[in-house]
Amino acid sequence: ASTLGASAAASGRYFGTAVAANHLGESGYVSTLNTEFNSVTAENEMKWDATEPSRGSFTFGGADQVVNHARGQGMRVRGHTLVWHSQLPNWVGQLATADLRTAMNNHITQLMNRYKGQIHSWDVVNEAFQDGGSGARRSSPFQDKLGAGFIEEAFRTARATDPNAKLCYNDYNTDGVNAKSNAVYAMVRDFKARGVPIDCVGFQSHFNSQSPVPGDYQQNLQRFADLGVDVQITELDIAGSGTAQANSYSSVIRTCLAISRCTGVTVWGVTDKYSWRSGDTPLLFDGNYAKKAAYTAVLTAL
Ligand code: XIL
Repeated sequence: ASTLGASAAASGRYFGTAVAANHLGESGYVSTLNTEFNSVTAENEMKWDATEPSRGSFTFGGADQVVNHARGQGMRVRGHTLVWHSQLPNWVGQLATADLRTAMNNHITQLMNRYKGQIHSWDVVNEAFQDGGSGARRSSPFQDKLGAGFIEEAFRTARATDPNAKLCYNDYNTDGVNAKSNAVYAMVRDFKARGVPIDCVGFQSHFNSQSPVPGDYQQNLQRFADLGVDVQITELDIAGSGTAQANSYSSVIRTCLAISRCTGVTVWGVTDKYSWRSGDTPLLFDGNYAKKAAYTAVLTAL
């Protein structure tokens, strides 16, 4: 096939991108998006600060724009993200324990109900583990006040709200086998053993020279798949340019295709000019929407 989405679909997978609502009026952005991708993630519009800036008052303008655009094009949508320490309005951290629990569950319920039946996978919890060798949970209002069980509670609330959405745990620096991914692995194994609802694990896959595509990427994703969850590459971008970048992209795609439970790949943006990694050129299209060597490498690998 001649586009990323159609090529991925040939093996039953999706090929997605992060989308920002404020670029949906730009013709080059929209035509590249519509031609090449068959899944979208709202880059910021579904996050807590965007959707519930003050307690109990929900604002869905940006998220609706992204979802409506996707649906109009027949694209699938990933939900990102329900419970995360970042882009979290201050009021959440100020709540006492009982109120925080209510607010977390209400946030999950309101978001998932709004888009019920329209989201193929939700990042229910994002980035709950620390970097480094400890394997410990990251400090957050949820972790600090509700305790480690907040993740289980979030997944149970999510399942009860939209039983048809795939429920994912999503994180970064978990792409290879390391202390952090071992800790996530132990959590997922425990969830599966105890019947806590979890369907997928998202590997953000933000790569650069400090954190290149790991040599044991496939081995790591496969061990998660072997627990009985799908795996998804959720925020892929790779710093660099030219052949080196193209080869890295190619190896990521081959990794996903080698794992039957790797159900799709999302790159974290359409064009280098709007990448969150300003100063880098980590995506598949340059600032003029020209296809880069990385694009060709991905299309060839798919
Ligand atoms: C980033 C967005 O791309 C930026 O626009 C925003 O300023 C900060 O967040 N991990 C995630 C994503 O899960 O939500 C982050 O997105 C990138 C890191």
